[in-house]
Amino acid sequence: MEERFDDASYRVFVEGVRRRFGIDLGQYKEAQMRRRITSLIRRRGFSGYAEYFAAVERDEELRREFLDRITINVSEFFRNPDRWEDLDRYVLAEILAKTTARLWSAACAGGEEPYTLAMLVHARRRSFVGVTLLATDIDEDALARARRGRYPESAVRLVPPEFAARYLIRVGDEYEVVPELRRAVYFRRHDLLRDPYERGFDLIVNRNVAIYFTDAGKEHLYRELSRSLRPGGYLFVGSTEQIFSSERYGLRQVYPFIYRKVGDPT
Ligand SMILES: C[S@@+](CC[C@H](N)C(=O)[O-])C[C@H]1O[C@@H](n2cnc3c(N)ncnc32)[C@H](O)[C@@H]1O
Repeated sequence: MEERFDDASYRVFVEGVRRRFGIDLGQYKEAQMRRRITSLIRRRGFSGYAEYFAAVERDEELRREFLDRITINVSEFFRNPDRWEDLDRYVLAEILAKTTARLWSAACAGGEEPYTLAMLVHARRRSFVGVTLLATDIDEDALARARRGRYPESAVRLVPPEFAARYLIRVGDEYEVVPELRRAVYFRRHDLLRDPYERGFDLIVNRNVAIYFTDAGKEHLYRELSRSLRPGGYLFVGSTEQIFSSERYGLRQVYPFIYRKVGDPT
């Protein structure tokens, strides 16, 4: 059968995915995204984008696999530990000294990142009173895993031993986050490219998702994230990410991979 992986078929596919799943593939780097999707389609033995899209619409399992493949949920607790140490020492120390604090893990994957944050918050305050901890992702499956809060050893290997002892419970060969932390994080679906943003955060953690976006996607992301920060609020990005001309968004780099919203804290 003739293969249909040409540009025009890809455009139709992208439009179908936007209509059917509300995900705008047009705002993700095309070469990378297309390679990922094409290799999946070939592996499943379809002749091109159109045939595959029809199958994905029909078949729940294929749909799940497709959504998994395009969202890339790789994460782990304390990813890049030195950066988390900076965040804790310089940023959380300041934010958590106040009576209330609003924190957001945006693109939280399976929950590893917001639970890391929750551990650091609890270690400092011994409670979550006055702290709002929002965690969002575009992928409902990832959010379901996050709410469940159970992880293989590979995901928790960087958790400092004293935190592991206090906040993780061993269940067979997996590790479960203690209920107190699970209750403290509010998980919700949110598409950073399409949905309205909540405002008024002291800290937003947004790591390892902008790398998949086009320049226009990044522009939208950083403008909105900046608007969602209080003056003096902080943005923590991934360790391969650099915000190009961050002043355009009113953001100033204050530590490696940590930016601060210009303006006096209120
Ligand atoms: C590689 S993971 C990063 C997880 C975590 N932030 C970290 O650094 O370990 C990327 C996450 O971004 C999510 N994602 C992709 N596109 C998104 C979008 N438009 N809005 C919100 N989340 C998105 C994916 O579902 C995935 O969970």
